[in-house]
Amino acid sequence: VTVLTNFCFLIRNNPDIDAAVQLLVKLKLEYKTATGQDYKAGCPPSDGPTLQDNGPSVTEGEDLVNPWNVTTTSAKGVDYDKLIVRFGSSKIDQELVDRIERVSGQKPHRFLRRGIFFSHRDMHQVLDAYESKKSFYLYTGRGPSSEAMHVGHLIPFIFTKWLQDVFDVPLVIQLTDDEKYLWKDLSVEECHRYAVENAKDIIACGFDINKTFIFSDLDYMGSSPGFYRNVVKIQKHVTFNQVKGIFGFTDSDCIGKISFPAIQAAPSFSTSFPQIFNGRKDVQCLIPCAIDQDPYFRMTRDVAPRIGYPKPALLHSTFFPALQGAQSKMSASDPNSSIFLTDTPKQIKNKINKHAFSGGKDTIEEHRKYGGDPDVDVSFMYLTFFLEDDEQLDKIRQDYTSGVLLTGELKKRLIDTLQPMISAHQQRRKLVTDEMVQQFMTSRPLDFNY
Ligand code: TRP
Repeated sequence: VTVLTNFCFLIRNNPDIDAAVQLLVKLKLEYKTATGQDYKAGCPPSDGPTLQDNGPSVTEGEDLVNPWNVTTTSAKGVDYDKLIVRFGSSKIDQELVDRIERVSGQKPHRFLRRGIFFSHRDMHQVLDAYESKKSFYLYTGRGPSSEAMHVGHLIPFIFTKWLQDVFDVPLVIQLTDDEKYLWKDLSVEECHRYAVENAKDIIACGFDINKTFIFSDLDYMGSSPGFYRNVVKIQKHVTFNQVKGIFGFTDSDCIGKISFPAIQAAPSFSTSFPQIFNGRKDVQCLIPCAIDQDPYFRMTRDVAPRIGYPKPALLHSTFFPALQGAQSKMSASDPNSSIFLTDTPKQIKNKINKHAFSGGKDTIEEHRKYGGDPDVDVSFMYLTFFLEDDEQLDKIRQDYTSGVLLTGELKKRLIDTLQPMISAHQQRRKLVTDEMVQQFMTSRPLDFNY
């Protein structure tokens, strides 16, 4: 004891050792700030970009893009090229679009032809594997915050349906009723009910019942050991510091929010669905989603190799602009900013005529003389999403720019495109029975052999 006491005294009073210890503590702290992980001797930090940057904070003049907010000051909308650089993803260039066409043998979807799905991670890898007969699966989702879905919500589903048809692969759709309970002032039961109601609109997009599993987190989490095991594995490998950096959580956010990203990450791993993949852990996942969901999947991709799974690949879409202009995305909480899937033909017409931001000139004479600006015109933007014919769209752009086409005429083109599209959706939704919803939402094997 005396020897030890003397030894401690020596250390405590040795300024060199003292300084070295302080330096070590400081370095450990810096290490943690930079990597989001505690320093462990002999353990390098996980690879990949550190999760600290790309966080929710925005510097002056930058677009704000995170899972809860999307805003920009530019009338043309978010600068997506800059976002690719900031998020560290890759651009979907013509070469990739051509490759998707070659591999699938199908004309690329208009969302690909027109840059609406504009960014990706590891899509070439998915195609490499597919070409050598290795399958993958699709995963997308929706946060059911209300009964009312608008046309913007359909974008990922319309595209996912095309991918499923073209590649013939399994699809899982996560309804994050738990997320909405945590974030909104809603009861658990309301959120669950919205999940089931939203499932009907999703089913109405035409998904194959034998190849698609739709699940409510509130139902599936508690019933699937495979899923919950993955959730805790993810939870163990992400620190509070990291989710703070990625999502901007603070000390006063409830712990449900802080751990939620693990639940949105889990479907990216095939072992979360043993009934579909027969326990295989190596089936790669491809996630079509709007770019605001990328923070979840940056986190997922960082964790994946550390828990022995492949990283999910991603296809990112741009946002669907609000009627008032591309400075913000369509929001279900503002009825005048959105065209809902339940709107009547008359409501659609009135909303577009009254609220759709126009890139046209103030008077007909001026418009004829100087032409309109399609790049800030919301009606034109919506047509790029929904008008299938490339030549017609091109002609509209030219005529609007030259002043031949007036704003009222452009709006009419959009009304004529959206009215039948929404009516057809409503017809298909009517045909979705409770039994069908039940079947889509039952944990079961799909028509694939793994
Ligand atoms: N968080 C998403 C939302 O609020 C829902 C979601 C869950 C999702 N998993 C997903 C979206 C996967 C895209 C891909 O809408």
